Amino acid sequence: DERAADRPIPNPATADSAFLRACRGEPVPHTPVWFMRQAGRSLPEYRELRRGTAMLESCMRPDLVTEITLQPVRRHHVDAAIYFSDIVVPIKAIGFDIDIKPGVGPVAPDPIRSLADLDRLPLLEPGHVDYVTEAIGMLTAELGATPLIGFAGAPFTVASYLVEGGPSKNHERTKAMMYGAPDLWAALLDRLADITAAFLKVQIEAGASAVQLFDSWAGALAPEDYRRYVLPASVKVFDAVASYGVPRIHFGVGTGEILGLMSQAGADVVGVDWRVPLDEAARRVGGGKPLQGNLDPAVLFAPREAVETKTREILDAGRAAPGHIFNLGHGVLPDTDPEVLTRLVDFVHTTTRTSAVH
Ligand code: CP3
Repeated sequence: DERAADRPIPNPATADSAFLRACRGEPVPHTPVWFMRQAGRSLPEYRELRRGTAMLESCMRPDLVTEITLQPVRRHHVDAAIYFSDIVVPIKAIGFDIDIKPGVGPVAPDPIRSLADLDRLPLLEPGHVDYVTEAIGMLTAELGATPLIGFAGAPFTVASYLVEGGPSKNHERTKAMMYGAPDLWAALLDRLADITAAFLKVQIEAGASAVQLFDSWAGALAPEDYRRYVLPASVKVFDAVASYGVPRIHFGVGTGEILGLMSQAGADVVGVDWRVPLDEAARRVGGGKPLQGNLDPAVLFAPREAVETKTREILDAGRAAPGHIFNLGHGVLPDTDPEVLTRLVDFVHTTTRTSAVH
């Protein structure tokens, strides 16, 4: 165990949970399940609670964060909670002008275009995000033995919003900076790595039992470009939190060609989207790491039999890895019927409880 002696032991009440056991590649009582975006618009109780409160404002209110985070745990009986926040929360917290436009996503009116612009990205101090520490304290008290997953956006994915000024299909300005101003790009990613690492540390020290680094858009890059322009910053983030000993999950969309590199960045568990079967993902990841995934979120709109057939295939393929955390291949789509999610959790639990599990 490489955990530093001066670091607190992360929430010991959750240590024997199915989720953390699977993250460590240990035998499990059932395959654990949680869903990316399990809190959010698919739940009527979420829409009700959020009425009249802007997204980023709700992320800064510990009472709302706590309630929204707990909603899917109560309703679906998932094996882990994910802290309700957004990848741009630490950026907003350090004073950078960014907002989340409903139905659009993060928008930055004055994007990063030059080295001088980095002055608008000061390092994150724990005091910038006291509401996170407060909310996680409330959450871990309520959650008991159910682990809380903290998260952050990876430097590349956050940079894409800061450089484009908003969501982007082709990431053209981001790539123009990466190839055309490599020193500026490296400085931006290094700064974001420090901010991201500080934000994850706050969550772990407050009681998060695992962390997930979302590099959602890294699949837009060729492997050699990922290796040269992105990997060093993600390595810096993972290294900065290694000594806590909490599982570090790494996820992106369309990452089939870079799963090995994303694993090398320092992930303990690799998240996989629906495009690569988990047995093939296990080969690409190498090193015998647990995997997380990977039901296509659109499958949840198909009849129950189709959902169960696809789920069985994923559970079978997941046996190729030393541990499997069942999840979707990306976030829950807003129009998903929440009852389908509840049924899916139960299906995974009962199916894997009665069969021989690794
Ligand atoms: O339950 C959970 O998974 C935790 C909640 C969560 C949110 N954002 C809440 C949210 C998580 C993990 C995120 C991460 C996030 N945010 C990512 C990485 C994960 C991924 O989906 O790939 C990215 C790329 C973002 C940026 C972002 N924020 C987008 C693209 C959007 C959607 C815009 C829209 O309205 O369709 C947001 C807004 C956002 N973040 C919402 C939620 C619940 C919707 C806002 C609302 O409910 O009003």
